[in-house]
Amino acid sequence: MDDVWLFGYGSLIWRPDFDYIEKRVAWVDGWSRQFWQGSHDHRGVPDAPGRVVTLVAQPGARCAGMAYRIEYQQARAIFQALDHREKNGYERHETAFQFVGAAPVNGILYVASADNFAWLGPAPVDQMAEQINRSVGPSGPNREYLLRLAQALRELELDDPDVFTLERAVLALPEP
Ligand code: BEZ
Repeated sequence: MDDVWLFGYGSLIWRPDFDYIEKRVAWVDGWSRQFWQGSHDHRGVPDAPGRVVTLVAQPGARCAGMAYRIEYQQARAIFQALDHREKNGYERHETAFQFVGAAPVNGILYVASADNFAWLGPAPVDQMAEQINRSVGPSGPNREYLLRLAQALRELELDDPDVFTLERAVLALPEP
């Protein structure tokens, strides 16, 4: 059976806690990365959710991240573990991954859509920054999640103006 590709656009960029055969910078067309998903179980709590990334369908948009090639025999267990880790509203979705200098492949990514129970949706940057700055959950501060994502994107030389704008807004606030 063929290997399976998985696209990481959030914490999977810097913390892929599974075995993979190779990783490659990739992007998905028609998707925009947004801090529009509430986190009740990782970077916030039910009464005070944090904000984490999801992908929002948007014609003409592009989201860059990291694609991982996973051995077919391991894929089932890896997806089961990720389904559990991301049970706060995310679902698997199949789409095409694009690479520089290689043919596109079809692969899997996780999307939390607007109809899930933890969805927060858009808000002004200063409000999102305040929420991210103060939220903490079992996986740690929400602030750390944003700063690590921004740092990982910078190290890969990937641009995402929305993430960097939010990073600047959070860095302008006092650390709680
Ligand atoms: C990711 O980093 O790609 C990811 C984001 C949300 C849920 C699962 C994975």
